[in-house]
Amino acid sequence: MGLALVVAACSTESGPDNGQNSLRPKGPVAEKIDNLFTPIFWIAVAVGVFITVATIFVAVRYRQRKGSDDRPKQIHGNTPLEIGWTLVPALILAVIAVPTVSVIFDLAEEPADPLEVTAVGKQWWWQFDYPKQVGVDAKIVTANEMHIPTGRDVFVNLTACDPSLPGGADDNPGCNVIHSFWVPELAGKRDVVPGRTNTMKLRADEAGTYLGQCAEYCGLSHANMRFRVIAQSPDDFADWVAGQVEGPTVSVEDSDAAELFTAKFQCTNCHTTEDSSASVYGPNLTHFASRETFASGYYETTRERLIQWILDAPSLIPMESEDCRLPPSPFENTCVGMPSFTTDTPEGQPTMTQAEAETLADYLLELT
Ligand code: CUA
Repeated sequence: MGLALVVAACSTESGPDNGQNSLRPKGPVAEKIDNLFTPIFWIAVAVGVFITVATIFVAVRYRQRKGSDDRPKQIHGNTPLEIGWTLVPALILAVIAVPTVSVIFDLAEEPADPLEVTAVGKQWWWQFDYPKQVGVDAKIVTANEMHIPTGRDVFVNLTACDPSLPGGADDNPGCNVIHSFWVPELAGKRDVVPGRTNTMKLRADEAGTYLGQCAEYCGLSHANMRFRVIAQSPDDFADWVAGQVEGPTVSVEDSDAAELFTAKFQCTNCHTTEDSSASVYGPNLTHFASRETFASGYYETTRERLIQWILDAPSLIPMESEDCRLPPSPFENTCVGMPSFTTDTPEGQPTMTQAEAETLADYLLELT
């Protein structure tokens, strides 16, 4: 009964669609992996059942009986047996290796004419950079939500370091941990390692939102390091690109939040709201309100939640961010995450009122 319950979680027919089911592939890359997984799974089941049944049979059939002290027949050094149980597993592994190796090479092949995206794993959120290319008129930097067109191969460069930050690729905050990029319904896992760029390809056949997750322990908020892949028809994707390459809907100087954002709370130390092609320490907020979620895809973008976040982000997601409010710049401190503006305020730094947080939130929500 217990086994039935556990196995029910894997159902692809009627089971709950949790958005992260690798047995429910939604693109050719995930399909190839699933097609490889299924036969190997059944070979493993056959081996497992055979070994279990044989072990139980031998244990029962040849157990020591009362009144008998016969020693079992000694078979040590039996050459045919030794060769047999060496060859059979080797043969099974050889059979499994043929499709496995071929799929590995197939998945590593660079697609022709892909959409290129760079995913930068930070502590603890994902930045997505779109270089200028066919269909993307200017560089785009966004966070947490990776938009892709359906039916087109996407080639993702994976890096744990943001080379455009001060300190370069080797020495900026958060650049010393390994993440892992995983969208179960579209592709396999791939580690995101400081000091090198890994690549992966993926493709979505149908429009939809596919949930991703960092799959390598990377510190305090690893479990909250989510993201989404939003697959859209090519027309909808082109509309999204057109919106992202534009300047902000409201310039910060013209907004009520100007003084709070740039001077009093120095949000501009880590964020920008003025340039959607700029890579900065924190998420690029130029088109913040165009995203369904914020805080590494953890919270839906609602006014109430955003105000709470601006006031005291570490109460919503655990972070190591006390240092982030120390002047002059976060890069010289070892801070990661969005600081609290209501608790643990360093000496000389202002604390934030509810009204100030509302002003900031209303400004950000204008940035569609
Ligand atoms: Cu990033 Cu776990």
